[in-house]
Amino acid sequence: MISSYDAAILENQQLAPSIWRLQLDVAALAQQVRPGQFVQVRVTNTYDPFLRTPLSVHDCDAKAGTIALLYQTVGTSTHALSRLRPGASVNILGPLGNGFTLPPARSNGNFALLVAGGIGIAPLLFLARELVAKKVSTRLLYGARTAADLTGIDAFEQLGVAVACCTDDGSQGLKGNVVDLLAGYLQSGAAGDVYACGPTPMLRALQQLVRSKGLAAQFSLEAYMACGLGACLGCVVAVPGGGYAHVCTDGPVFKEREVEL
Ligand SMILES: Cc1cc2nc3c(=O)[nH]c(=O)nc-3n(C[C@H](O)[C@H](O)[C@H](O)COP(=O)(O)OP(=O)(O)OC[C@H]3O[C@@H](n4cnc5c(N)ncnc54)[C@H](O)[C@@H]3O)c2cc1C
Ligand code: FES
Repeated sequence: MISSYDAAILENQQLAPSIWRLQLDVAALAQQVRPGQFVQVRVTNTYDPFLRTPLSVHDCDAKAGTIALLYQTVGTSTHALSRLRPGASVNILGPLGNGFTLPPARSNGNFALLVAGGIGIAPLLFLARELVAKKVSTRLLYGARTAADLTGIDAFEQLGVAVACCTDDGSQGLKGNVVDLLAGYLQSGAAGDVYACGPTPMLRALQQLVRSKGLAAQFSLEAYMACGLGACLGCVVAVPGGGYAHVCTDGPVFKEREVEL
């Protein structure tokens, strides 16, 4: 059930020049949230900034009652968030959105290809944890501008996820983008269900690739959001055949064929 929670900050750690990981004590939310869902964070206890900040749930430990958020400092709210220290708290609204659809548990024959562009890595760790728990063989393809922006790879490797990276400047992994990285991987005859998050141009190119290869894919979309509850039309995305869907309530995760990017 969607509720607002005052969540105590356990840790707020800088991982890269503009990327931070926030660990929150919020047991009631941790026990119900699913991979791909998000929360709306009120960073201050005033109405400045007025809007809450949508952030995906990066990781979750239901037993410990904690969730983690991974965020990039881009503007007012995310910079304010990076200044908060353990002991402070933030108000969060959630769980919001639909989340990824996971395959049924199988011991073999199921392959998941996680594709992340930049901060699009955020929702994929929690997803990887659940896929691995279902014994789905999982691989991460992760692209960023430069090596310093590739964050949290260890956490995937500790789960047993195979990781391949690329960077725009070639400072780590393949020099190029993550759609090229996936295309190269698929050339070996590999296949799998694709779960992706990243900037819209990346997802648009990925949509072409998965269609050409006949792969099933789910995309987690980012949109400008206001209410986060389906009430303001702030977050719409075009759907095939005309009309729109709300990223906040119909998504943020869509099957690739459900959206016009
Ligand atoms: C469902 C969802 C999940 C998200 N999950 C994450 C996450 O896990 N980690 C993370 O770092 N970010 C995530 N985002 C994006 C994040 O919400 C924005 O970066 C944040 O709201 C910016 O707030 P700000 O006040 O710091 O920046 P602002 O001052 O509002 O904006 C700074 C700059 O960022 C641009 N911007 C603001 N919001 C967005 C947006 N939604 N998409 C693209 N550009 C934007 C503005 O145009 C401006 O150029 C998510 C967005 C959505 C909709
Ligand atoms: S953010 Fe208001 S309808 Fe989606």
